Amino acid sequence: VINIKATQPVAEIKPTMWGIFFEDINMGADGGIYAELVKNRSFEFQKPLMGWKVERKKENEGDIVVQNRQGNTANPRFISVKLSNTSKGDLGLTNEGFKGMGIKKGLRYDFSVLYRHRSGAVKLHLELLDAKGSIIGSTTLTPANSLQEWKKEAISFNATETEAKAKFRIWFEGNGEFDLDMISLFPEDTWKKRPGGMRADMIQLLADMKPGFIRFPGGCIVEGIDLANRYQWKKTLGPIEERQLIINRWNVEFAHRPSPDYFQTFGLGFFEYFQLAEDIGAEPLPILNCGMACQFNTAEVVPVSELEPYIQDALDLIEFANGDVNSKWGKIRAEMGHPAPFNLKMMGVGNENWGPQYVERLKVFTKAIKAKYPNIKLVNSSGTDPEGDRFNYLNTELRSMNADIIDEHYYRTPDWFLKNAARYDTYDRKGSKIFAGEYAAQSDRTVSVNNRNNWKCALSEAAFMTGLERNAEVVQMASYAPLFAHAEGWQWTPDLIWVDNLRSYGTPNYHVQKLYSTNKGTHVLNTTQNGTALTGQDDLFASGILDKATNEVILKVANVSDKAQVREVNLEGIKKFDTKAKLTVLKNDNLDAANTFENATNVSPVEETITLNPKKKISLTLAPNSFTVLRVK
Ligand code: AHR
Repeated sequence: VINIKATQPVAEIKPTMWGIFFEDINMGADGGIYAELVKNRSFEFQKPLMGWKVERKKENEGDIVVQNRQGNTANPRFISVKLSNTSKGDLGLTNEGFKGMGIKKGLRYDFSVLYRHRSGAVKLHLELLDAKGSIIGSTTLTPANSLQEWKKEAISFNATETEAKAKFRIWFEGNGEFDLDMISLFPEDTWKKRPGGMRADMIQLLADMKPGFIRFPGGCIVEGIDLANRYQWKKTLGPIEERQLIINRWNVEFAHRPSPDYFQTFGLGFFEYFQLAEDIGAEPLPILNCGMACQFNTAEVVPVSELEPYIQDALDLIEFANGDVNSKWGKIRAEMGHPAPFNLKMMGVGNENWGPQYVERLKVFTKAIKAKYPNIKLVNSSGTDPEGDRFNYLNTELRSMNADIIDEHYYRTPDWFLKNAARYDTYDRKGSKIFAGEYAAQSDRTVSVNNRNNWKCALSEAAFMTGLERNAEVVQMASYAPLFAHAEGWQWTPDLIWVDNLRSYGTPNYHVQKLYSTNKGTHVLNTTQNGTALTGQDDLFASGILDKATNEVILKVANVSDKAQVREVNLEGIKKFDTKAKLTVLKNDNLDAANTFENATNVSPVEETITLNPKKKISLTLAPNSFTVLRVK
């Protein structure tokens, strides 16, 4: 019998409990949720023409030159084009996109470019090409701008075919000279149809999870390869042509498929992250650099005596999110289109930083932030390796500092997850709260290209998460990581959601996360078998909760044995319940089963309404290797 003390809540479950962790890794942002199709639109990548091919049919019929203007540090480069009796097909530029471009038949595509006229009369022929080079959408732009000043030119056209590996070509025609920058192409079907916005199918998968929070922008990219390439949120605001790009920390090392052209262009910046959080009903959780570059990389630190600009960034971020429209940073938010505050409640300082260097910097940050904003909760990182010396040292230090929230990470074997279902049972209830900020079961080993999002891993996470939920008094937030991966451009596996240029699907792990976050409840209920919590006895893991909003008891059970098991469920203290209950089961007989683009629902939940006999105990058959969610009203 699984006994649930259904009328005696023992702890509150915070609305933030289950959330998402976003990082621009595996083409998560550029080439991912940021729907820009043109790679290196501003020619600022390490090599200015990365992603571009100059098409030249005849010599002496024109020229394309990369220019570097002085005095514009955010976006110095542009291209100059010189035409002399140039016909269509003589001189042009082709952009390869991010592993190609995903183009949909009948959809409108919005082209724009910053244009400066110098002389003559010119035309731009725009063409979308399929993988074989046939035209699948075209138009002609005759620039209206005849000024020697930069002006945006734009035109839209429709695609005639669907193609996952399209390219975009511009032919130049005429006589004259002109300059181009910020060559951009967006589909019309972005999330909420925002021009220059995000890829809707990917964001919908996030919205469907109803996440309690969204952590951004990472991950190691917060820290950067070195301090010069750390994430600086202020450089991600305002007009996109003024947002200075940097090399992505995931351009190097760990890379299974290294792309020398993995940059962060910041078309997706902090304003857009806050807006996304609001769109999907999640609390924003920004993480800031603490004055240390990635310790798995250059491990540079800024002297403690020179931390001031870093700390100012943290203080200004709170003003940007919450400040009045008359404040300096609140005004910038309002000018970007959001006069109302974003209502920021928490912020992280540092990601997987360690050692006394982290602690001493953190102390300076904490003092300054708490002095000005005592109500902002600070997330501190205790990093990976949850049993190692580094982790133990930080845990002791952070607890002695009375850290608000400690962020623990674990990329471990499925077995580790099963063995750790009781991990938080002994954590101090009164001290720092826990954010299980990055976790994922690894089918092979941590940081292996062979890791798979198989059912075995997902089931072990489901089992482990009963332990997070049972301990919601101390674990107040949790998120799987990484979130997204592009099938042709990933650095890290496993990942929650896989995409290519046109398709996206949730892994079994995604369904586990979603089952938790859409069955979140409000209070923990004491749930036992023979008087003890189910943390692996008989290969069962269970957690019972109450949803005060809907007046339902929700039981989650992972059965990790290969045999069906039957249990009676006793709702202690409840005399009457509805005869109809909702049962959702996620299962597969094959622990190696996974989802794919072709079979995206191979491991996915099946929902049914079951009939209960109010005079009898509830009988629950737990399928072999299954995760079951029962909702009784
Ligand atoms: O999620 C991938 C990486 O794992 C994150 O960037 C980092 O925080 C952790 O080491």
